[in-house]
Parts: sequence; C-alpha cells; structure tokens
Amino acid sequence: MPLFDLGPKESRRTLYGRDAEVETLVRLIRNGRWSVILGPRMVGKTSLAKAGAHQSGVPSVYVNLWGVKGVDGLLDALGEGINSNRPLLRRVRDALGRIEGLNVLGTGITIAPLNRPLRTVHEILSALGGAHRRTVIIVDEVQELAASSGALLKLLANVFNTHPRVTFVFTGSVFGLIRTLLAPATSSPLFGRSPVRIDLRPFDREEAFGFLERGFREYGVSPDPEVVRRSIEHSLDGSPGWLTYYGNCVAVQRMALAEAERATVQEGRKVARSEVAHFLVGRDAATHWTALRVLTRPVTWTELRSGLAAARGSRLNDNSLANVLRSLRAAGLVERSAETYQIGDPMVRGFVREARRPPG
Ligand SMILES: Nc1ncnc2c1ncn2[C@@H]1O[C@H](COP(=O)(O)OP(=O)(O)O)[C@@H](O)[C@H]1O
Ligand SMILES: [Mg+2]
Repeated sequence: MPLFDLGPKESRRTLYGRDAEVETLVRLIRNGRWSVILGPRMVGKTSLAKAGAHQSGVPSVYVNLWGVKGVDGLLDALGEGINSNRPLLRRVRDALGRIEGLNVLGTGITIAPLNRPLRTVHEILSALGGAHRRTVIIVDEVQELAASSGALLKLLANVFNTHPRVTFVFTGSVFGLIRTLLAPATSSPLFGRSPVRIDLRPFDREEAFGFLERGFREYGVSPDPEVVRRSIEHSLDGSPGWLTYYGNCVAVQRMALAEAERATVQEGRKVARSEVAHFLVGRDAATHWTALRVLTRPVTWTELRSGLAAARGSRLNDNSLANVLRSLRAAGLVERSAETYQIGDPMVRGFVREARRPPG
C-alpha cells in the first residue's frame, strides 16, 4: 500500500515513522495489557492500532464505533468485525453458534434483534476468550459510546477478570469516556485495571517533509522542495492525514502544488466545519462559537474573558467560562500550553477564523 493511500494503513511496513509507538503497542498486546491510543482526528490512530495488532501476530477483530449509537450499535459493529476475519470466525464458529440470537452462516454471523444486547456482547467476547488462542479487539472511536459507558465499563471489567486471553486496544479523541477508562475513580469497575495510554502527536516539520518526500519518491515525482516546505509551514502542518491528502493530490491526481494545497485546505475546513457543528449541537452555540473565535490565537484566561465580553457585549461569569473552556478542551478542539489556550488543529483554526457565522 503506497504512503499516499487515503485509507488507514494496516501494517508496520506501510506506516511512516511511529516506530516507538508500534513497538510499545506490540509489547502491550503480546503481554495482554490493554491500551488506549489518544490523539486528534487524522493523526493516525486507526493506522497505528491496525498496524500494531498485525505486527503482534495476535489475531484481531476491528470494531469501528464511528457513528454508532448505544449497545445495539456496538453489537452490530462487533459482528461486522468478526465477519471480516475469516480464520478467526472459523475458529470460534461452534462457540458462537451456541449463543442465543446469533446465526452462524457460511457468509458469517448475523445477529437477530434482542432484548439484551449487552449480554450478547458479553457472550461473544466470552466465546472469543474461551478459544485457545489469544485475541485482540480494536475498539475504534470509543468516545461514541460515552452515553452507555456505565454498563460498558462493567462489562469490560468482567471480561478483564474472566478472559485474560482477550486484549483490548481502544482509540479515541475525546476525554469523556477516555477519562473513565484511563483514570477511573475508586468506585469504577475498571479501577486498578486502567489501560496504558499511548499519545499520538502530529509529525514535526522535518518528519512531515520526510513523509512527503518518501511518498513522492514512490510515485517518481519530485516537486520543488521549497514550495513543499512552505506549504507545510503555512497550511499543512504535521497531521499525517492532511499530508497524505496533499501528497495524493500531487502524486496521484497530478495537481499543481498550489492547487493541491488549496484542495487540501478546502477539504480540511470541510471536515473542521462538520466537527464544530457536531460540537455545537445541544450547546449554547452563540457563546461557544464566540469563544472559539477568540481562541483562534493563543490567549490567557484573562484575555479570553475580556475578548469574550467585548464580543458578547456582556461579561460571562467565571464559572460559566470555566465550563465553556472545559467542554472545548474535552472535545479536543482547544489545547492548553503553559499559560495560554488556543484551537489546536490548524484546519479548525482556519475554518473558525474565516467563517462568518457558526455552522449548523
Ligand atoms: N504513520 C503514518 N504513515 C503513513 N500514513 C499515515 C500515518 N498515519 C496516518 N496515515 C494516513 O493518514 C490518514 C489518516 O489516518 P488514520 O489512521 O485514519 O487517522 P485517525 O484514525 O487518527 O483519524 C490515512 O490516510 C492514513 O493512511
Ligand atoms: Mg480513525
């Protein structure tokens, strides 16, 4: 798979860099430790999870929770994950066949509507854990299940205790469920069993340039390095996903460099727009949007408060401001460095700076 392929990478060989992260993940998987891969969108979480699982040699099930609602959705996603791993399906088909509500056919399993989906999820995991070999389950975008986290945590703790052959790799970009997974309160079922955290960061400038250079070489193209460097500096930054998109525009679609940069920024802002819109749903959109506008540059708490007051025409009390900032940070939209806060993702920053009104 070429570097500029737009899908997630699935093996270490096709991954650029990330040696330390892959090594850590492989060691954790082989030792049965659970892990959580954290990072912003497009940074390469899915790719790392898949490549690490592949490299570990432990059979894996990939469960994608993007857009999934509730435990029914989880159950379907789990079924889909099992169906796409034929050898594993063959190994556990007898055990799966004994589960109520599950049909094992030649083409894979189908799940009949049930009253107790959580129990079925548990039975499936038990079937996987009872087979003689180990299994790693990648649960991608785990924050989507935040609303059902209570029951889910109990189930995970139960699997942890009774099925040491089942290992989980979670990925996520939002703090909500992540916090309950990583630093569970003493009252949480997962207390004392926290997964190990792996933080995935964007590439730095040199890595970003090296990434593009290697990709261009694969296609036998050699665009002007100075122009490429300037694009990295001005708009692409170090997000592997956006670098991949840009590289694809240049090497696969054969766009001119300036055009490729424009296309990438346009696509980036489109994604940013939907992310911000998603965030504003069910919130005081005017206040959060105004805060985002102030946060397009690094500001201290005091500057944020006065900037917001000037834009709204009235001051927000400190408690409410703290809440606004907390939810922006929890959603991964705003980052803190030393004394200042700012929108972290340059694509989101660019979108907020240029949009005239909140998306909706
Ligand atoms: N280390 C890497 N090497 C090569 N390509 C990468 C790397 N990390 C991410 N990508 C590419 O970037 C895009 C986004 O990666 P993905 O794993 O889907 O990110 P995330 O799950 O964090 O949103 C995909 O096209 C993927 O192939
Ligand atoms: Mg992903």
